[in-house]
Amino acid sequence: MNFNVMRYYIATLVFQTLVLHVTVLVQDASAAVAGKNDNYDSLLTGQGLYSSNDGIYILNATNFKPSIYESKTGWFVEFYNSWCGFCLRFADTWKALAQDIGHWKDVVVVAAIDCANDDNNPICREYEIMHYPMLKYFHVDAKPGQLGIEIEKGKDMDAVRHNLIDRLEKEQQEGRGYSWPNITPYRSGDTKNLWKDLPAGVKYNFLIFETVDSFLATEVTLDLHNISSIQVRGVTSENEPLSIMLSVNKFPTLIALGRNSSQQLINVRYPTREGIRKAIKEFLVLKGITVDIPDNTNKHPSEWMKVEIPNVLDIMKERRDEKEQEEVRALGDLLFQLDLETALRYSIDHEIPMVKVIEGDKIQALKAYLNVLAKYFPFGRNGILFLDRLRELVDQRERLTGKEFRQIVKSTEEEISPIYSGPQGWIGCKGSVSSFRGYPCGLWTMFHMLTVNSAIRNKNNLEYKPQEVLQAMLGYIKNFFGCADCSEHFVKMAGENKMSEVRTLNESILWLWKSHNLVNKRLAGDKTEDPMHKKVQYPSKEQCSTCKYNNESWNEAEILRYLYRKYSSSEISYYNSSGKLNENNSIVHLKIRQERFASDKYSGQRKLGWDFTIFDISICVVLYVTSATILVLVCIKFAMKRTYRKKTYIHDLFGKV
Ligand SMILES: Cc1cc2nc3c(=O)[nH]c(=O)nc-3n(C[C@H](O)[C@H](O)[C@H](O)COP(=O)(O)OP(=O)(O)OC[C@H]3O[C@@H](n4cnc5c(N)ncnc54)[C@H](O)[C@@H]3O)c2cc1C
Ligand SMILES: *[C@@H]1O[C@H](CO)[C@@H](O)[C@H](O)[C@H]1NC(C)=O
Ligand SMILES: *[C@@H]1O[C@H](CO)[C@@H](O)[C@H](O)[C@H]1NC(C)=O
Ligand SMILES: *[C@@H]1O[C@H](CO)[C@@H](O)[C@H](O)[C@H]1NC(C)=O
Ligand SMILES: *[C@@H]1O[C@H](CO)[C@@H](O)[C@H](O)[C@H]1NC(C)=O
Ligand SMILES: *[C@@H]1O[C@H](CO)[C@@H](O)[C@H](O)[C@H]1NC(C)=O
Ligand SMILES: *[C@@H]1O[C@H](CO)[C@@H](O)[C@H](O)[C@H]1NC(C)=O
Ligand SMILES: *[C@@H]1O[C@H](CO)[C@@H](O)[C@H](O)[C@H]1NC(C)=O
Repeated sequence: MNFNVMRYYIATLVFQTLVLHVTVLVQDASAAVAGKNDNYDSLLTGQGLYSSNDGIYILNATNFKPSIYESKTGWFVEFYNSWCGFCLRFADTWKALAQDIGHWKDVVVVAAIDCANDDNNPICREYEIMHYPMLKYFHVDAKPGQLGIEIEKGKDMDAVRHNLIDRLEKEQQEGRGYSWPNITPYRSGDTKNLWKDLPAGVKYNFLIFETVDSFLATEVTLDLHNISSIQVRGVTSENEPLSIMLSVNKFPTLIALGRNSSQQLINVRYPTREGIRKAIKEFLVLKGITVDIPDNTNKHPSEWMKVEIPNVLDIMKERRDEKEQEEVRALGDLLFQLDLETALRYSIDHEIPMVKVIEGDKIQALKAYLNVLAKYFPFGRNGILFLDRLRELVDQRERLTGKEFRQIVKSTEEEISPIYSGPQGWIGCKGSVSSFRGYPCGLWTMFHMLTVNSAIRNKNNLEYKPQEVLQAMLGYIKNFFGCADCSEHFVKMAGENKMSEVRTLNESILWLWKSHNLVNKRLAGDKTEDPMHKKVQYPSKEQCSTCKYNNESWNEAEILRYLYRKYSSSEISYYNSSGKLNENNSIVHLKIRQERFASDKYSGQRKLGWDFTIFDISICVVLYVTSATILVLVCIKFAMKRTYRKKTYIHDLFGKV
């Protein structure tokens, strides 16, 4: 009897799950239909890191696929994030490369796409960009669906170019790029084959003999491929017959071969890419052939930075921004609601949906993250309901695609709007230039706030989990934060500084403060530092005069007091937020959450809320009635079966043996 009852309970459960899934599906579908695109572009990232003046082809959601697929050239694309520190540092390298190989553009185009731009979100997700910057090569005539080949960045511009050349050489060996100049080394033992298939206009063949690991020949070949009267070919030191025949005994060596089989060793003063190009040019000039040989490559990267004439409007805007910033700074070291909300929005509307599939560790990290947001993020009533609903919906899943998550967020947003208290933008986290500060600053701020609010909320809770917020942060940074090297550093720091040994809520606040200061120390004076917001050990003497003893060591009790004051939700500034939604914010926020989390024993279990909609309730009623009916039927059936079985039991047994 028990077994059967259980079976039907399970059946009911399955049915219930089915209904839930259908609900989610319906919501997803309606979200997809209603989907409108909020644009983070101007807000978060300004113009991105590049302009077409840099010789970089700017890709976006509209032109990405039409450009790279079925193209006559290869594409070398940087996927970046305009707020990511590493991308900022890498931008000069990328610009320098674009200038450096500008003459190769009918072989390979240097391009970039800003993944921080919300419009480009689907592209960056589709191409599985999980760290920034990420370089990908798309080959000639690539077909839709191909995701490109990742190319390592290397330590500088030359390294990136060399990695690209390795790729291009492989491409040609694999039979692609037959319209390119021939960049595979010449392997024949004599020079006859050199002239085969060459147009009559080609008067000279230049052979560059080099060691196997050298890139010179390919570079010069590509640099000069547009000069129709010559051909350049590389020969490696492995081609001994030819080396011996032409008496080459040092590398690199440059030899010119004429149509009438004249041959001449050309003296190369500097065995560099430029030096060889120069030698070729001089040789041709002597022969009375004038060519336009590029000499604008291989300069120091800084020389490539164009001096742009500032626009009057820009100057005016800058002045206004400066005044605004001063005004904000005069308010003191405050926590701004707008910063918190903008960071939250970017995180859940943009960064999390970037992940193609959220499962395993990732879904656990997402659940933990939504859990601390639902508990401690300072919000108006709608905001709290929104986060709570989101948490509930995600808690039911063990696997989600980024796209599904985005749709769940969208439909929940529409269901409960308005959620946010103002337009998006940064106040405390605004950089003096759009590429500084912003999101990473907002994220730090948000997690400091969460550690403090969890300490305040759990003051009298004996069963608090001191690492709750820190672990949620670690999971988020590890699995979702788009800045790969930040993420790596942070995970390492969590181990080295023993996050796992944090025992109290006050310790968790101090742990994050200390760790953040270590990051500040490492980044002080870095290229990513906003000159208007220097990286200092926080809080500075001006911000908190009592936070340090006379002997310059920190006074942790005073620091705690300072952090409590700055980051607690009751101290938030609603500067530039619309006041309306936040009227009585703290009251509502405490009330709703007290109901929701009053009995939360931090078991990690989801608690049911009491905001059932009529729909929920009716489903419950239907389910209850259905399962009750089924149960009654089962009992009746079972009772009947038992009488029936009693009779047939022995017969059955014998029949089977
Ligand atoms: C987890 C994480 C790891 C990162 N790792 C790297 C990295 O490895 N390399 C890299 O280039 N960038 C990294 N970043 C980005 C970098 O730390 C900054 O966020 C970014 O350069 C913007 O700096 P900012 O001047 O706006 O100030 P932020 O450092 O972002 O600080 C934001 C605000 O927090 C307050 N604050 C500062 N210090 C403290 C503190 N100790 N305690 C409490 N509050 C404080 C200040 O009010 C400050 O304005 C990381 C960001 C995060 C969130
Ligand atoms: C993408 O770039 C092209 C060319 O620069 C531009 O015309 C187009 O409007 C851009 N699309 C979006 C969505 O920004
Ligand atoms: C090379 O020449 C072709 C035609 O002669 C021209 O279309 C192309 O733009 C040139 N490429 C470069 C990089 O100058
Ligand atoms: C052909 O060879 C002669 C020497 O035999 C040389 O003087 C002449 O310049 C060569 N012609 C070309 C086009 O290289
Ligand atoms: C600095 O002074 C405080 C109190 O005066 C003391 O507790 C602390 O140990 C001192 N630190 C150092 C490094 O001397
Ligand atoms: C945590 O720090 C605050 C501020 O210094 C203090 O008031 C509070 O008593 C501390 N809590 C515990 C549990 O030590
Ligand atoms: C505050 O909002 C106003 C009006 O939207 C805007 O012009 C101003 O730039 C904002 N201030 C800051 C510091 O962003
Ligand atoms: C805010 O609180 C005040 C006093 O408690 C009350 O009069 C007012 O109606 C409240 N406003 C809202 C929007 O709830």
